Amino acid sequence: MTERNPEKDLAILAYSGGLDTSVCIKWLQENKDLDIIAVVGDVGQDHDDLEDVKKRALDSGAIDCIVVDMREDYANQYLTKALAANALYENKYPLLSALSRPIISKHLVDVAHTNGAKYIAHGCTGKGNDQVRFESSVLALDPSLEIIAPVREWDLGSRDNEMAWARERGVPVPTTNAKPYSIDDNLWGRAIECGVLENPWNEPPKDIWETTVDPEDAPNEPTVVEIEFEAGVPCAVDGEKMSFLEVIYRLNEVAGANGFGRLDLMENRLIGVKSRECYEVPGSMSLITAHKALEDMVLERDLLHYKIHAELVWAEQVYNGLYFSPLKIALDAFFAETQRYVTGSVRLRFYKGTCAVTGVKSDYSLYDYGLATYDDADTFNHDSARGFIDLHSLRSRVWSANRHKMNAVHEQLHSVTGTKDEFSK
Ligand code: ARG
Repeated sequence: MTERNPEKDLAILAYSGGLDTSVCIKWLQENKDLDIIAVVGDVGQDHDDLEDVKKRALDSGAIDCIVVDMREDYANQYLTKALAANALYENKYPLLSALSRPIISKHLVDVAHTNGAKYIAHGCTGKGNDQVRFESSVLALDPSLEIIAPVREWDLGSRDNEMAWARERGVPVPTTNAKPYSIDDNLWGRAIECGVLENPWNEPPKDIWETTVDPEDAPNEPTVVEIEFEAGVPCAVDGEKMSFLEVIYRLNEVAGANGFGRLDLMENRLIGVKSRECYEVPGSMSLITAHKALEDMVLERDLLHYKIHAELVWAEQVYNGLYFSPLKIALDAFFAETQRYVTGSVRLRFYKGTCAVTGVKSDYSLYDYGLATYDDADTFNHDSARGFIDLHSLRSRVWSANRHKMNAVHEQLHSVTGTKDEFSK
């Protein structure tokens, strides 16, 4: 750590160790005359050695680089909420990038407070969602902080130009050829964008996938896994008690080894751009699959149905950078109440890119064999069905009788049934 210059204001930078954020350090010094403290969040990404990342920040000119292991908190405070919400943006994407920005933002704000910083900086471009997430999260936590987004401001042109700019100033540049993709990854999965993927007709090249095997190369025998949940949170795998963080690591491994969790989809970014996205989400997708199956068994019908709507709202808020919004916070309270008795076990069977639920059990099960069975054990009162349907269909009968009387029924119904005459008799 270098001494602070009392003449200069301080910026806290979200640092990844990559070229862009390294150049950000030097650019902020040169163009804004600031001292910079870099913050690296360990959210379970596949990173270089963190000591190397720290050294790169210091070599780029940061006065300090703080590495924070956020994994436990990320799992216990953020991913538990995502799982409670079965969070899938547009019913598909488990929000891995959207979930990590708020926790990193929280630490940026903490470091800003401890060190009396005026600015928060990040290395996001002006076209993506992540800039919105960082800035909205930081400002929700402390509206008095000011944001600087160097990549949005600078005019360094191509990656080659940027490297030349960096070299001239002694900023370390990557020595190996970077993969031609933009990658973001953490415990909840891995996002791959850019390069040839920008043409949606191009099949993703094999080399984009790293945490899942090709389903064609997956083992010829299925792998069966039993996941135990306590109040909505996974707490054991195959009878072995473990933390949620450990469960996530385990499922990433097992599901990935069986080729489960590859997504290739079209997504609507907040800023109005459609974007082709590839994701590897073996752990998150299998945990959401298991969690939903258990909820199907223990949640009362109206609650379950209402929750499914609320889940989409939660996912949209989080996708749009509103992790700390009042609506999202209130929804968390609602979901927390729903999770009280989401306790039980789910058996998953992984096989060549698929993940099937093959068994569910819970002491809080609302499944009643006597009510469900068609065997002799049937306890359902069949007589009550007649009265139920009598009232359930009452409004339809009143409506239909009126439209028949008015000779108007086919106007509404023929487009559905396809038969005009039947109703115009
Ligand atoms: N489209 C995804 C999202 O908005 C992934 C973003 C990945 N970020 C990145 N810098 N490559 O959440």
